[in-house]
Amino acid sequence: MKGSILPSLVLFLLQPSHPNDVVIIYDYTLPGVNKIVESFSERWAATTLLTATPAPDLSQLLVALTSFHTNDLRYMVLLCSANTTRTIFDMVSNNNLESRRIRWLVVGEEPDLAATLLHTLREGSLVGIASRVNNNLYKMSFSYMNHENQMRFQEVGVWTGRKGKVGKGRMNRPLYPDIVNHYRNFQGRNLISSAVDNWPFFGLKYLENDTVVSDRGIDINVINTLGYYLNFTYRVEVPPDQQWGGVQKDGTVTGIIREIATRGAHLAIDELTITASRETVVDFSIPYFFDSTTLTSKAPAERSRSLAVLYPFSSLTWIILVIVTLLMGPLGYLFSRVHHQLTQTFDSTHNERSRNVGPSFDSGRIKWGSEPGLRGVEMFCFNMFRTIIIQGNLLPASSWPLRLVFFSWYAFCVILYAVYAGTLTAYLTKPSFDKPIDSLEDLLEARERGVAPSVTVGTINEMILKVIDKNTAFINGLVGSEIFAMKQGRHLYHLARNTFHPQPYGIACPPGAPYTPVLNLMLGRMVQAGLVDKWHRDELTNMKQSSEQSKPKDQTQETEVGQGSVAVRSLALDHLQGAFYILGCFTVVAAGALLTEVIMSLYS
Ligand SMILES: *[C@@H]1O[C@H](CO)[C@@H](O)[C@H](O)[C@H]1NC(C)=O
Ligand SMILES: *[C@@H]1O[C@H](CO)[C@@H](O)[C@H](O)[C@H]1NC(C)=O
Ligand SMILES: *[C@@H]1O[C@H](CO)[C@@H](O)[C@H](O)[C@H]1NC(C)=O
Repeated sequence: MKGSILPSLVLFLLQPSHPNDVVIIYDYTLPGVNKIVESFSERWAATTLLTATPAPDLSQLLVALTSFHTNDLRYMVLLCSANTTRTIFDMVSNNNLESRRIRWLVVGEEPDLAATLLHTLREGSLVGIASRVNNNLYKMSFSYMNHENQMRFQEVGVWTGRKGKVGKGRMNRPLYPDIVNHYRNFQGRNLISSAVDNWPFFGLKYLENDTVVSDRGIDINVINTLGYYLNFTYRVEVPPDQQWGGVQKDGTVTGIIREIATRGAHLAIDELTITASRETVVDFSIPYFFDSTTLTSKAPAERSRSLAVLYPFSSLTWIILVIVTLLMGPLGYLFSRVHHQLTQTFDSTHNERSRNVGPSFDSGRIKWGSEPGLRGVEMFCFNMFRTIIIQGNLLPASSWPLRLVFFSWYAFCVILYAVYAGTLTAYLTKPSFDKPIDSLEDLLEARERGVAPSVTVGTINEMILKVIDKNTAFINGLVGSEIFAMKQGRHLYHLARNTFHPQPYGIACPPGAPYTPVLNLMLGRMVQAGLVDKWHRDELTNMKQSSEQSKPKDQTQETEVGQGSVAVRSLALDHLQGAFYILGCFTVVAAGALLTEVIMSLYS
């Protein structure tokens, strides 16, 4: 009975891999199938049996292909007629169930089994076939993608069974190659890369005959390097809707992601953010670049320095200062008045003589205490003001309460003066700007000033222009924003100092693509070697150089002079305008007052 040699063949093929997780799908067309099934159940505990009679069951297959309990590879052993086997692989490709973690072993009696399967198999199914050539001779082959992107089977060995004995086999190489090693050489395949024009990541060039080729960009460097080391070339195909795309709310998939999910392209690298929803339909490599989100806004205007003398304090502080200064006069007056009243009452009742010795006063400038009417409240106000502008106080402090009032006022004024002088110096020597938008909190504040947040819908270029024209804050990836701002003139824009929501970019591959691990390996090396960062800097430098060349000469000179003079800036007239304003204003007021007096005296 030839059926009895099959268990020994399957063992010969599977044993070298030490499978822990085996699923056997069988119908009753192969002779002696019961025996194989029996011997497997004994040998491997984790064996699942599925029968494909009368027809393979899709839901069972789904479970078998997607539910994994271990991290091991799962072996699917098909012991069915060629027709059933074909039906099963049709189900696999119709449902996008290709997986790197599944190894198929197909044992068949028909010699043309391989040819039958070639039409249904797609890249991603790792299929080993043992098909019978004649009586006891089986030929083993493994599926692979040839350099013309066609599925082929490569013969890897033969096996001869002997009735009642262990069969004899000869393999040129293991039935299942290590896929990382296998895909280290794509054999010069020409892959399809789906992309949209997206410089600085993936710049495209449209040739005259409508062919699209890659131009330059960070991602183009990445894919060229991958191609060089993995021996593949690629051609660019732009998705019909020219979008990055993803899974939409209604479940449809669009853009580049659609091309990859439906295997219209082999890979896509184009600033593709790895997101959970996209990962439900495509496989992503490890991230090769992290970009954070930033806010691009109009560069803050430099504040005019004419009123620099006012900048050290906010308007609220100024108002409070004026009020406090105005209140201190009456307060001092009140204290001295009450004290005077008390001493007078005390003197008149107890000690007549002490009236003249009482509160000290000097050289008759102020007739303190000797006059029944004290100095007026305006005298106090004026002296409080003298103190705040660091002029001596002319009022003698006769009593302790008044001394304490003066003491606290002096202390207050000294601190205030120090703070004011220091801040003013800083304001005068360093150019000061309006408050820039540096974080999301700033953006909330800025909305009150009419700055609207915006995100990309059209091209990034349009959005960048809107930042100036419509006064918006553009929320976008840092690299793109930086480069586009540079293109338009970097000094016109402000990029927020705080960035948020870092986005990992990865390469999208069709689900179950067997080359994702090797891409991961290469990407890991590129990132560790700092190549991706270098390419990023290169794009920035190129951009800088080209924008500097295109800039008019006098403009560059002007900025250079401007930067140089920051260090040795001497105060110009415009810094002191505020002081002159004050002087001017009050002289005019004084002149007005004088004029009024003159007129009054003329009429009286
Ligand atoms: C296999 O299927 C084809 C049609 O799909 C049918 O014509 C053929 O007879 C089937 N072969 C067997 C052995 O069942
Ligand atoms: C790349 O593939 C081509 C085509 O199969 C092959 O001739 C060449 O030797 C390969 N290059 C390397 C470095 O393996
Ligand atoms: C378009 O032109 C380029 C070179 O100019 C050429 O390499 C390419 O094959 C052409 N494509 C088609 C479809 O003619």
